[in-house]
Amino acid sequence: MSNPTVDLILNHHSVRHYASRKIEPEIISTLVKCAQAAATSHYVQPYSIVSVTDPEIQNQLAAIAGQKHIPNAAHIFVFVADFNRHNSFINASDDIFANAENLLVAAIDCALAAQNLTLAAESYGIGCCYLGSLRNDCRKVAELLNLPKLTFPLFGIACGYPEGDRATKKPRLPEQEVHYENRYDSSNRAENLAKYDQEIKEYYESRNSRQRIESWTGMMRDFLSKEVRKEIREILREQKMLD
Ligand SMILES: Cc1cc2nc3c(=O)[nH]c(=O)nc-3n(C[C@H](O)[C@H](O)[C@H](O)COP(=O)(O)O)c2cc1C
Repeated sequence: MSNPTVDLILNHHSVRHYASRKIEPEIISTLVKCAQAAATSHYVQPYSIVSVTDPEIQNQLAAIAGQKHIPNAAHIFVFVADFNRHNSFINASDDIFANAENLLVAAIDCALAAQNLTLAAESYGIGCCYLGSLRNDCRKVAELLNLPKLTFPLFGIACGYPEGDRATKKPRLPEQEVHYENRYDSSNRAENLAKYDQEIKEYYESRNSRQRIESWTGMMRDFLSKEVRKEIREILREQKMLD
């Protein structure tokens, strides 16, 4: 059954073409409030959000990400996993924060907050695109944003009112492939994936995409067989976010 919230969620697509119109400061503030309204593990709230409004920093983030749409975004939010705040009053050794569980807690909370912000932005007609590509150079992002120890820049979100945006909704995996009852069940996997591969091929053909995409499984085989951002574990350790 549809309702306006469900319609908004189901109509999501990433937007990478923006008008020059700025996002009103009251809307920015509301978006951050919406991010903060997300559930948070143990009430820890282990994140900070850096709004990048300085065009010079925005250009440098674009260079790190290697993405042409970033300088044209009206606003960029960077989501930072953050135990620095907690350390300011717990006054323990930095090392107490550095473990995989805390890192998961911070990453999950950041993602929940970010998705709340994205949906709220989309409800105002603002288009968004997540930017994991900022992790191409986390040290540089940390330097540009003056991030202290016990923080880590997880991803950004580029936002702006859409202009010239021709992107469409991308089909997701079939529900029966991702949603099981009581027990994990991959018995229809081959059939589900074959059907999905065909759907994805037709989707990219219908978009007259320059990229030739033959299948989702092929895309994933190419993507997941490459080693990516090997230095991240080391940077997490330098930042005292992982032991
Ligand atoms: C955590 C995260 C990081 C992402 N990073 C990038 C990115 O660096 N650049 C980009 O253009 N899109 C990025 N995306 C957008 C995905 O490519 C996009 O969500 C996916 O292809 C599905 O398309 P849709 O959002 O239009 O439905 C990211 C999405 C997520 C959730």
